[in-house]
Amino acid sequence: MELPVIAPPPDEAEDGARLAAVLDEALHGIDRRVFTDMSALPDLRGRRLLFALALGRHGINAAYTRLLLTLRQNPTLLDGCTAALVVDGAGELYTKSTAAELALAANLAGCALIGRPLVEGTGSLTNFRVQAKLLDTDLLGAYRANVRELAERLLAPPTPKKEKPELLALHASSYHTSNTMQLWAQVKRRLGDGCAVTEIGLRNGAVSDCAGCPYTACLHFGEKDRCFYGGLMQDEVWPAVRRCDAVVLLCPNYNDALSANLTAFINRLTGLFRQTRFYDKAVFALVVSGYSGGDTVARQVISAMNMNKSFFLPPRFALIETANDPGEALRLPGMEQKLDAFAQRIRDTVLQ
Ligand SMILES: Cc1cc2nc3c(=O)[nH]c(=O)nc-3n(C[C@H](O)[C@H](O)[C@H](O)COP(=O)(O)O)c2cc1C
Repeated sequence: MELPVIAPPPDEAEDGARLAAVLDEALHGIDRRVFTDMSALPDLRGRRLLFALALGRHGINAAYTRLLLTLRQNPTLLDGCTAALVVDGAGELYTKSTAAELALAANLAGCALIGRPLVEGTGSLTNFRVQAKLLDTDLLGAYRANVRELAERLLAPPTPKKEKPELLALHASSYHTSNTMQLWAQVKRRLGDGCAVTEIGLRNGAVSDCAGCPYTACLHFGEKDRCFYGGLMQDEVWPAVRRCDAVVLLCPNYNDALSANLTAFINRLTGLFRQTRFYDKAVFALVVSGYSGGDTVARQVISAMNMNKSFFLPPRFALIETANDPGEALRLPGMEQKLDAFAQRIRDTVLQ
């Protein structure tokens, strides 16, 4: 079957030349059909998709903005799809942030993303410096090789599901007062005993942030299933991550970002990530903001856990709500149905 490539044309035609050439070479032998009209996408439900986005020097592509509108206007447009992304920039900035924005919009329209779904080419391609050395090629060669590998992973068969999957819920909040925790308690109740749930609290500096050890030191500790700081992360969290089929991050919005404790968890996952990939594990998130900004936090989870740390992003991976006073989240209109649907998405993702 043809691979649909959704490719909003750049404002200046020359900004798309490098990406078109890379795709031509990297996708050689893979049947594909390119869609360029972002207001009239056909029915692509259930398909594997590649988004191919060329940004101009200033990170702007008007057709891409049209694509965002189409995705946000049609929340079931990509039901059952699984996607990957290639984002090419004429400048050094905006490739990553635009990719995360597109990923969230597609995900909210029903699209899953494979783990590590993004290949980006910055204007200078210096983001491929290490890869080029490892692959013994030049920057453009590394770009093509990465796109090829991405397409092969996108088209590979999905991981089989389990009869009794394990979930790992990570939080750093109080059950008594936190809106986020109250929503989670309701989700957990709905999951019943179909899934085994492990919950770990990361409060009060239980996990120190990553020390930023040199690459070789991180690798050396990681090979022994250890990390420089040891502690809860090494003794409980890493083993639980290894075992689980999905991680559920419970994310109150703190200054339009994940809390420091959850960020420390993700940073400290690096040692485990050096030894293994998490392609067969999903990430979910419950995001609650007091006032606004839930999309910013959800995008951070996508960037960190899906794009960097390689977790699979299931369709509509996050329940994103706004509530400030204790207990307010549970009283939001339609919350029972939203919790039912979120628990069902977890079951659909991990249960056989
Ligand atoms: C340190 C801190 C920073 C916060 N920053 C924001 C913010 O930037 N934007 C926002 O909408 N709410 C912010 N809030 C409010 C929480 O997101 C809000 O209380 C929400 O209900 C989720 O937190 P909870 O699970 O503890 O109830 C902040 C709360 C704290 C404690």
